[in-house]
Parts: sequence; C-alpha cells; structure tokens
Amino acid sequence: RELKIILLILFCNFIKKLITMLTKKVENALNKQIEHEANASQFYLAMASWAETKGLEGVSSFFYRHSDEEREHMLKLIKYVNERGGHAIVPSLAKPPKVFDCLSHVFQDLLDHEVMVSREINKVVDICLKDKDYTTHNFMQWYVAEQIEEEALARHILDKLKLIGDDKGGLYLFDRDILNMNPAKN
Ligand code: FEO
Repeated sequence: RELKIILLILFCNFIKKLITMLTKKVENALNKQIEHEANASQFYLAMASWAETKGLEGVSSFFYRHSDEEREHMLKLIKYVNERGGHAIVPSLAKPPKVFDCLSHVFQDLLDHEVMVSREINKVVDICLKDKDYTTHNFMQWYVAEQIEEEALARHILDKLKLIGDDKGGLYLFDRDILNMNPAKN
C-alpha cells in the first residue's frame, strides 16, 4: 500500500513537471535573451573600463554598476529556465569595443543597445503569447518594465550631455552627478 502511494506521488510530480515545462520555442527564446543580457553586461564593462582610463570616475562607476545589473538580469533568466524544466545555456560573448570616441557616443551606444534589448524582449513576450505560456509571459513583464526605465535614463543622460556640449566644467560636474544615478532599480 505504501509503495502504491509513493508511486502515485512520483507519477503526480512527473505529470506536474510535464505540465509546467517550457516549450522548446520559449526555452530557445529565453536562451537567446540570456545571451543578450550577457552581451550587454560585457559591453557596459568595456565602457566602464574605458571611462576609468579617462579619469571619469563617476561614469566608470555608473557602467560598472550597470554591467553588474545586466549580469543579474542574465542570472534571473538562467534560474527561471532551469526551474521550468529547461536547460539554460551559458553563451559565448561578443568582443566589445576597446575605445569610444566621446561620452556622447558612449551614452548613445547605451541607448541603442537598450532599444535593441527591448525589441528582443518584446519578441520573447510575443512567443509566450503564441505558445500560451502565460507564466513566462508574466515573468517577462519585469523585464518589460525594466527596459522602460533603462531607456528613459539613457535618454535623460543624453539630453544632459547635449546641454553641456564641450564645456569642461560642465563635464566635470556631470561626472560627479552621475555617481548618484542608478542604472536601474532591481
Ligand atoms: Fe537587461 Fe538593460 O537589459
């Protein structure tokens, strides 16, 4: 009798796992997103290092933090994929640029990259809806909201840089003020 109960529990767990498992399409889309988050982290790390070599302490600290945040985004996805019975793949990374022309270009690159990431997140959301995976759809809403904040912040910083132009004193103050700006709130 006990053996029957154990077998029943095992069978129920097996069925539950099957029901909650990711479809291959959703799993692949999430793995692609893991790659985007990892590349964003790498890209921002290169920006942080470049800024540090230019003596821009505030900007480099902003990008070191931003790079860490993107790694957190990647880890959150990895854990989710594995929890849902998939296999999260750790991707190989694209080599980011070593040097950047100027601060405005760095922040324009940041904005462009975030716009691209938002587009990719929307694709994942779309696949979730088509596959009727409402759990992953719900999970992805955190990323959708995060992207709105990140894009807005990049635009806000670019506007400030446009105002400052080539003014050295303005750039000095900008580098000091950015120390208090959060890349995103987790
Ligand atoms: Fe996690 Fe800024 O993309």
